[in-house]
Amino acid sequence: MSNRGGMIAPSLLSADFSCIREDIRPIEPLVDMWHIDVMDGRFVRNITMGPFIVEAVKKATNLPLDVHLMIAEPVKYAEPFLLAGADILTAHIEAFSSGDEVLYFIDEVKRFGKKAGLSIKPGTDVSDLYDFLGEIDLVLVMSVEPGFGGQSFMSESLTKLKNLAERFGSILSVDGGINDKTAKDAVSAGANMLVAGSYIFSSENREAAIGALRDAFKDV
Ligand code: DX5
Ligand code: ZN
Repeated sequence: MSNRGGMIAPSLLSADFSCIREDIRPIEPLVDMWHIDVMDGRFVRNITMGPFIVEAVKKATNLPLDVHLMIAEPVKYAEPFLLAGADILTAHIEAFSSGDEVLYFIDEVKRFGKKAGLSIKPGTDVSDLYDFLGEIDLVLVMSVEPGFGGQSFMSESLTKLKNLAERFGSILSVDGGINDKTAKDAVSAGANMLVAGSYIFSSENREAAIGALRDAFKDV
């Protein structure tokens, strides 16, 4: 995983799955990894993809897969997603029933030699993550309510990023409503990874859109 002053992970939720290989190939050299949004209809209202699709995407690309689990019972499903090819596996702190369960999830990911992440919804206090920051490789701050692409960035997430940037030295990722403008704010607040779906895939010039996100890292 390169770190050209910060990382960009396009969210495949906005890609065209009828021709996924062709859709992502042109921008593959411009980005750092693919973000895959897994939704189960329980933790969030939407249903998207399971390990079967992760495995298919894995075959279509050489880039790492950043798998964002928006599911209930993440411990139960960690192994199938790791076997399917997740390189980073992130679960929501709200989805666990105890701290021991969180630690079990992290250990499971590490057992596979992969990176473990924890994500927080807009309404969750960052302090819920503090006990685990020493154990994980990535924090994913949700800047929209998880469930759907194409929503507007919630600026309250900037306070969370600032808070986490002071106490977490690894990958600090932000997800939801990221575009050229909100990317700048998020990076200034401490994000070193940007997840963006609709901004990249709905753009007429995806290369330029990615360039604009990359520029956000230049000013800091
Ligand atoms: C939302 C997902 C996001 C989403 C981002 O629940 O976690 O990754 O795809 O989409 P945009 O960039 O369109 O807000
Ligand atoms: Zn996501």
